[in-house]
Amino acid sequence: MDDQIVIHHDQNVSVDEIQERLENGAGALIIRGAYQDLALLDSVSDAFSERIQSEGNHAADHFASGSNRRLWNALNKLAEDAPHLFAEYYGNEWLHRVSEAWLGPLYQITAQVNVVVPGGAPQTGHRDYHLGFYPESLVAEMPDLIRRASSKLTLQGAIIHCDVPVEMGPTKLLLGSQNDSDGYLTYRRPEEQERFEREFSQIPFKKGDLVFFNPSIFHAAGGNQTSNPRLVNLLQISSALAKPMEHLDFPALVRFVYPHLLNNTDRNLVSRAIRAMVDAYPFPSNLDLDPPSDDWLGELETTWLLKAWETKRSPSEVLSDYTNRRNRRVYSSA
Ligand SMILES: [Fe+2]
Repeated sequence: MDDQIVIHHDQNVSVDEIQERLENGAGALIIRGAYQDLALLDSVSDAFSERIQSEGNHAADHFASGSNRRLWNALNKLAEDAPHLFAEYYGNEWLHRVSEAWLGPLYQITAQVNVVVPGGAPQTGHRDYHLGFYPESLVAEMPDLIRRASSKLTLQGAIIHCDVPVEMGPTKLLLGSQNDSDGYLTYRRPEEQERFEREFSQIPFKKGDLVFFNPSIFHAAGGNQTSNPRLVNLLQISSALAKPMEHLDFPALVRFVYPHLLNNTDRNLVSRAIRAMVDAYPFPSNLDLDPPSDDWLGELETTWLLKAWETKRSPSEVLSDYTNRRNRRVYSSA
């Protein structure tokens, strides 16, 4: 099984083979020894740990219970805290080789550090960004074409900062499950969860490995049963192809148009017009200021503005709340 997944950093592997393994093969890759300079990883770990400490409770992991830690936007934060390490760390050859094999040359990297403390609980099986994040009801509304496209638009990755033996909970993967039909729709159901727990594979990671997986593969981080923390930097590499052609000034649209919507009684028309007035998507965001919450993905800007219209909220209140909401999404360093 290992040879379906593991590639050694000095191995010669074609772009087509990388793509084939991620798309139709196991759905995951481990590049052993992608980072040869382990002292670099230690220095970056120190910078991340200092930042996590300075953030205190703020760095609690919203995706897990207990005292696991999560550092949002580990890309900007490393640039601020240790800019001399940035190029070697985020410029890693294998990181870009695999990203380019999956997405071509037009991609954007985002990163979030995850520290799972000793005793940290395992995750339940799930699928990742984009469609893996959304409630089943929203996924059900997506045409099959978009469900299939979702996994082609991102690549999930992780930079491994310490040895991760099985007891420390390396990612559990259901190999080949990236092509399950309706995978995004059904993964929460009990029979699918049972299948996952029965059939997953788990391969130990080594410090300096880079791990990549197809975002639609059924997977879960394992629990940490050792006495050491597990530090990995999680990466989403996003295709740039779905970006709009222009920046829209959403608060201006709300400011000018919302007062006129209040004079309109056609709910269907208003609902359609609102789709042209606000951001259709909750990402990208600043997850420090706009952290995951129960309604994080449930209340899209379109839903929020329609609700404001239905309850006849005043233009000044709506504009002020909307501007605050927009401001929370923008990252700016102090
Ligand atoms: Fe995940």
